[in-house]
Amino acid sequence: YHVDWDISAAEKGGHDYFMLKEIAEQPQAVADTLLGRLTPRGQLRLDEMRLSDDELREIDKIIIIACGSAFYAGLTAKYAIEHWTRIPCEVELSSEFRYRDPILNRSTLVIAISQSGETMDTLMALRHAREQRARVLAICNTNGSTIPRESDAVLYTHAGPEVGVAATKTFLTQVVACYLIGLYLAQVRESKFGDEVAAEVDQLDRMPQAVEQALGTMEQIRSLARELATAKSVLFIGRHVGYPVALEGALKLKELAYMHAEAFAAGELKHGPIALIEEDLPVVVVVPPRGRDVLHDKIVSNVQEIRARGARTIVLAEEGDESVTPYADVLISLPKVPTLLQPLVATVPLQIFACELAMARGNDVDQPRNLAKSVTVE
Ligand code: AGP
Repeated sequence: YHVDWDISAAEKGGHDYFMLKEIAEQPQAVADTLLGRLTPRGQLRLDEMRLSDDELREIDKIIIIACGSAFYAGLTAKYAIEHWTRIPCEVELSSEFRYRDPILNRSTLVIAISQSGETMDTLMALRHAREQRARVLAICNTNGSTIPRESDAVLYTHAGPEVGVAATKTFLTQVVACYLIGLYLAQVRESKFGDEVAAEVDQLDRMPQAVEQALGTMEQIRSLARELATAKSVLFIGRHVGYPVALEGALKLKELAYMHAEAFAAGELKHGPIALIEEDLPVVVVVPPRGRDVLHDKIVSNVQEIRARGARTIVLAEEGDESVTPYADVLISLPKVPTLLQPLVATVPLQIFACELAMARGNDVDQPRNLAKSVTVE
């Protein structure tokens, strides 16, 4: 009897790369981040916050510090946190924050996001914040690592070990963890949007199934990636929470496929980037859900403009959204979810896209050149 598997194939759960395994694990990872933190009555329990309700009510500013994908998770969270809590929220690259003179005090909540918990710039940024008496809450995936140890409190993402250099399940679960913090603050502070908390908690609870559904785009993306393997450059556009999704999609493509990839906020196109649009250039567009969202129609007209200039449009839109069909060379259907939660489903096809393009170009997606899983040097 002969077994074809070697140990490394077993570790990868039958996938060719850890990254593919980790992409597939995302529904479970999201469920594990939520586990034990939602109560049946649509409330949240976050004992790990380690701050009393009075202290939580005193917070008057939030600053999120992070690098790379974790920074994009933070950018996504800003939209949700400010909407739910009405607390001003800034997001800054750790490497910039640590060398400036930020205005912080005891009422500032600094959220340091790092899957490894060892990123040097984020560690230094959190020390810089603590020196000024700000309270630091870490969002981390690695138990007992340095960043949580040096923080006042930690919310673990419980995504399980991530071996591939590219952040996939840790990115999604960082967004979920940030949302839990935002909703928890809204609940405790009884903010104006506090009554939305129960409905949002309910929606979050359904995200593992929605992420599972997003994985269904795999085959379609795989053949698209093969077609685009020789493209020189890919642009990504989005707006609102779709903008950080575009940034994350572009970063994945750079780091894995070694291709030039750039993301823009769709509203900025006319301020310069539209000059880059040319015949056959692949442009990935993240379209927000329809409904009351005014941004939906604005982005559909962007797709139209881009297409009119000969670009090849790859459009991610909510299932059943036919308004984009005439202008989409490739239409990728996303599960129907509320706007703020769309990044959790829209990021998935972009991860697959980068991974498949990299494989089509013969790259090792688990260990891309020049990169380390955790950046413990400056
Ligand atoms: C993402 O795919 C990257 N590998 C990288 O940008 C990463 O997110 C960044 O280095 C931050 O790492 P951390 O979450 O461990 O702090």
